[in-house]
Amino acid sequence: MKYAFAKRVRHLQSSVVRDILKIVNQGNVISFAGGLPDDGLFPTEAIKDAFTSAFEKGNKAFQYGETEGYRPLREVILERMGHKGIQGYDADNVLLTTGSQQAIDLLARVMISPGDVLLTEEPTYLAALQVFQSYEAQIIPVQCDENGMIMDDLKEKIKQYHPKMLYVVPTFSNPSGRVWSLERRKELIRIVKKQNVLVFEDDPYGDIQFTNESYTPIAALDNGSHVLYTSTFSKTAVPALRTGWIVGPYQIIRMMAQAKQANDLHSNSLAHQALYELCRNFDLDGHIKKISSVYGERKDIMVYHLQKAQREGLIKFVEPKGGMFLWLELQEQVNAEALLPRAVEKGMAYVPGAPFYAEAPKLNTLRLNFTHATDNQIKIGMDILIRMLEEVDVERTQLKSL
Ligand SMILES: Cc1ncc(COP(=O)(O)O)c(C=O)c1O
Repeated sequence: MKYAFAKRVRHLQSSVVRDILKIVNQGNVISFAGGLPDDGLFPTEAIKDAFTSAFEKGNKAFQYGETEGYRPLREVILERMGHKGIQGYDADNVLLTTGSQQAIDLLARVMISPGDVLLTEEPTYLAALQVFQSYEAQIIPVQCDENGMIMDDLKEKIKQYHPKMLYVVPTFSNPSGRVWSLERRKELIRIVKKQNVLVFEDDPYGDIQFTNESYTPIAALDNGSHVLYTSTFSKTAVPALRTGWIVGPYQIIRMMAQAKQANDLHSNSLAHQALYELCRNFDLDGHIKKISSVYGERKDIMVYHLQKAQREGLIKFVEPKGGMFLWLELQEQVNAEALLPRAVEKGMAYVPGAPFYAEAPKLNTLRLNFTHATDNQIKIGMDILIRMLEEVDVERTQLKSL
């Protein structure tokens, strides 16, 4: 039987990289490819207690709930966001989603018609690109530097393409680890208000910080009209509870709730009740500080081992101040995707950078995750990577001299 799939699934093809990484997950390879938090640091006992408290409510804890999600949890989330300066909303402005990934999908579903233009950073979150492509958006990347989007290019692209929306991960981006400066955030708000463009701010990593600097979410600079903000418990508590949220203008949140109703009625309300108990009875902020400190140490170890290759001119990187990723730029002619099978054979894996670009990929880039491997695995893995890059450098020099 030849199955006649819908046209839109042409965007859902499997990639060679995904196939290689599937093998990695089964074997003895040290993987820096996934974006996984360390399961050894999960607050398991506190989650067990939180579920016990939810169960104590009796059978009603297991009943269908509102599409928008468990209201007391939405209120707790609003309180937590208030501490970041995101204020002026009530629980009706919040939709709980199955991970922030579903927030990306639902927002695209209600806002994007085929051909609508969406501006993104370059590089940007791969799975968001996949969602936007599946809704047949025209994705236009805006040039970026280490402080965020370059505002002149943004203005130019707004003028040229009249985009509907802008998708940004301004704090410890996946994949680049980049943080936007406050000036750029303010300038962005000024521009989008003038030009009437929506901003979709995705902030799963903002709480995983290695310094005492504070970062104002773009949503905190808005007055509730132009920014939708999504975040998640995946990186700060556990991903398995699949709980994220989106906050923004009521009309959009309401439309998303209607789309969600058609999609899954509501997310896991038992998980919502447990997360509510966790936020109320457990020191989640203390826990976030603890995991941030461990992740920061792992980032330091990774950076320490990469510095030799940086001195030799084999790689360039900006040391991240938070989040879960380090973004490497290799020498110009080196193709990170072509090298992946060789790295895997030697015992380590990364994600090549190319799929994080909407167009014109930089083939000499790759992403390393530093939160899941142990200190020793990081040391061994970076040694393998650097030795391989040194070998490649020698081979290229020999080729040139032929
Ligand atoms: C930038 C970004 N947004 C959204 C997500 C989705 O996270 P979740 O669905 O687990 O909340 C991720 C996951 O890695 C991410 O990196």
